[in-house]
Amino acid sequence: MTLKPIFDAIEKSAHRIRDAIASEDLCYSENCNATGDMQLELDIQSDLIIAEEFSKIAAVKAIASEEKEEEETLHERGRYKIAYDPLDGSSLIDVDLSVGSIFGIYDESFEAQKMLAAVYIVYGPRLEMVTAYKESVRHFIFRHDRFMEQTTIKLDEKGKLNAPGGTQRHWPSHHKEMVDSLFAEGYRLRYSGGMVPDLHQILLKGGGLFSYPGTTDKPNGKLRKLFEVFPFAFVYETAGGAAIDDKGRRLLELPCDDPHETTPCFFGSRYEIDRVKAAYGVD
Ligand code: F6P
Repeated sequence: MTLKPIFDAIEKSAHRIRDAIASEDLCYSENCNATGDMQLELDIQSDLIIAEEFSKIAAVKAIASEEKEEEETLHERGRYKIAYDPLDGSSLIDVDLSVGSIFGIYDESFEAQKMLAAVYIVYGPRLEMVTAYKESVRHFIFRHDRFMEQTTIKLDEKGKLNAPGGTQRHWPSHHKEMVDSLFAEGYRLRYSGGMVPDLHQILLKGGGLFSYPGTTDKPNGKLRKLFEVFPFAFVYETAGGAAIDDKGRRLLELPCDDPHETTPCFFGSRYEIDRVKAAYGVD
């Protein structure tokens, strides 16, 4: 069975969310999402848009959203499960920075090893989409009313960018030494605070490191396995890079017992991931 209808639904959601971002007032709702962040009205709208588009596809068995506590069954007899973050980094809209939607498409169950494809959308000066499916990572730009394919993305062996997440004073000392040593080697800081644009930039500019470590205030990191970490691990590995946790394990081999579970995570080209392993003593 093809995933085409699912990709089409993601594209449709992307236009609708892009329009909502451009036209809606930002107002904080009364609600809080499952992990306690303030939920913007636009988060809820984006969640509803995506759920509505997926509900039209009989092959979609269930969805899990960063905005929902539990997974939701759409079609009992469907095959695919989709986990998504409808509007990652939404607070950045306030300051007109890029944000994104992230999707992981699974065969029958939400296990990292069962991921078939990952897709993300970037809402920035342009509307862009990246898909990782069947061993290739493809980049699309929305022009003349449709997503037009640009290039296939491959990460270089070694990059130039460094995107270190989290609050520095809560970093473990070996993490700080690793980040500093990359800067000492000539790496440039590129960090907006939006996971989608930050990882997108590293992918399109050949490589580098995005890290979100376990910290004294958040020992398991901040980023959610199902909605943020697994899809980007799939994209980075498919592009020839690597994605690990602080024990050196492939992120795509980690279990996920709760939809909102988080993990320390590192995404990059081969060279930088080897540097992380050395710094963390998990060679
Ligand atoms: O999970 C939401 C998010 O905004 C990500 O998009 C981003 O990578 C991260 O949080 C930024 O966190 P921090 O501000 O702690 O570096």
